[in-house]
Amino acid sequence: MAIILPQNDTNTKRAAELETMRKDYAYNFENEFPVGVKYYARDMDGIAWYPKVLAGLATARSNVQEILEKTGWKTKNPVPTLSPAALAGYIEKKSFPDLFDYFLTELGPIDGGGRPTALEDYVKVFQKVKATYCTERFMDDDYFAHSFLAGPHANLFGMIKAIPANFPISNEIFKKTAAFASDDLARAMNAGRVFIADYKEMIDLQSGVHPVQKKYIYQPIVAFAVPENGGKMLPFAIQCGQTPVDFPMFTPADDWAWQMAKGTAWVAHYTYHEVITHLGLTHLLIEPIVVATRRQLHTSHPIYKLITPHFEGTMLINSLAMSSLVQDGQAVDRLVGSANKSNFAFLAKQRLNYSFSENYLPNRLKLKGVHDIKTLPQYHYRDDAIQIWNATRAWVSRYIDRCYRSDADVKADFELQVWAVEINAKNGGRIRDFAANGGVDSKDQLIDTCTMIIFTAGPQHAAVNFPQLTDMSFLPGGPLAGYRPAPESTKMTKQDYLDFLPPMDIALKQWQTMHFLGSVRHTTFGDYGDAFSDEVIKAAAGAFRTDLKRIEEEIKNKNLKRLAYEHLLPSLIPQSTNI
Ligand SMILES: [Fe+2]
Repeated sequence: MAIILPQNDTNTKRAAELETMRKDYAYNFENEFPVGVKYYARDMDGIAWYPKVLAGLATARSNVQEILEKTGWKTKNPVPTLSPAALAGYIEKKSFPDLFDYFLTELGPIDGGGRPTALEDYVKVFQKVKATYCTERFMDDDYFAHSFLAGPHANLFGMIKAIPANFPISNEIFKKTAAFASDDLARAMNAGRVFIADYKEMIDLQSGVHPVQKKYIYQPIVAFAVPENGGKMLPFAIQCGQTPVDFPMFTPADDWAWQMAKGTAWVAHYTYHEVITHLGLTHLLIEPIVVATRRQLHTSHPIYKLITPHFEGTMLINSLAMSSLVQDGQAVDRLVGSANKSNFAFLAKQRLNYSFSENYLPNRLKLKGVHDIKTLPQYHYRDDAIQIWNATRAWVSRYIDRCYRSDADVKADFELQVWAVEINAKNGGRIRDFAANGGVDSKDQLIDTCTMIIFTAGPQHAAVNFPQLTDMSFLPGGPLAGYRPAPESTKMTKQDYLDFLPPMDIALKQWQTMHFLGSVRHTTFGDYGDAFSDEVIKAAAGAFRTDLKRIEEEIKNKNLKRLAYEHLLPSLIPQSTNI
């Protein structure tokens, strides 16, 4: 089929067909961030998705049964049973609430409180599945740093050029870390080798409650530096709150207090990851773009054809997440330290404040000062993601060059203009800085916009979703809540650390949720099947796949020389946000 822009289309039914789509798709603003009111068959996943989901669910259930049997933990709710006929009925009808109840049962607290008696208790969640590498590494400082460079949330820290007023790091503190003993803080900062992760925005969150115990959320600040001779970035100071008079500064010299401080940092880091970076800025960022695309671009529109393969299953998984996962008493509420009501308000604020264009990967890395390989030599996420961004942009660029001869063609494309206006608008997608903040001005702007949509739906989601299994299913390596206040002094003991960690029902819930969400992989990035018939576009899609294959080999080679980071191997990235 020839490529026809709306301004050149002689199809007299085009406008009426779009009008029908606009009747079907609408926005729901109940939580301020827009989601679709309803989704349809065209928004669902291909047939291969569902069996993978069922397999993930079955593993979750059988491992949990085994854990309970082996440990003797008595949970408030039993693992439910169903007759084979009833189960077959739920599977047949794709009745997700019933399937989740059966396979991902909410077990409630454990009799006696379920407090850990030893750190080894947490390893007991791995019965029918292999224990993750975190079980061995979670106490190491370089693993802690690794979780910021290559973990589920490898895009939060930024370079600092001056010491923040409320975070009084000093040369004395800096030198307490062996790697910086003969270094100098001012020199390191001038050279761009000092970075912080600051969770000040989390002041909006209130602490929540566990059925048996109080739980806590924190607003820490973490400092890292890269040694003078290059090598790995390492943490050297953590302040567990925003005010230095209330929160002492801890360093790696502080033994259990340091371990607890790293824990409080992870609580903030991973709560922000789940609520904002993962849910808010991949799943819920793509959703209104799907709705606007269905409403404003005709199915024959070349941009519709380019981006909709990257929307497969997103509205379905988002609807499941919004109706179960994030509701009161469900997984997110159970796992994170913050009160659920405050999570929704925080999510709305962060999602609506998010600038689309500032977050184009090259812009985001530059804004945070983490783009430079000279000052930050080892940053797995950046190094792999930028290659994929560039390959995606090259593909999108070839595609758009084939469809639009000039900027004037873009400006005359009235469907595209209305689409971009709607994604930005208050009564539409509410996405700040989308293209021209009301329309699209040029081919270049359209290329960046579509690159960002495709990158967010595929690689960015993969980078924040799949490490949930590898890095977060073992609770001490990625706690989402604390169960005591932040460490008050350097005189903390192993028992204080155990008191800080969540109880075993949460360890179970965390394994169940993270393992399931990180185990369903459906479709492959760049695989468009026979979606395109134009020969030039087919060749461009082929070149994209060749680029991805080359990147795959390059990442494998990089992994021979670093702690392996496999989440951005192109063959493991799905086309869309579908889990
Ligand atoms: Fe996800």
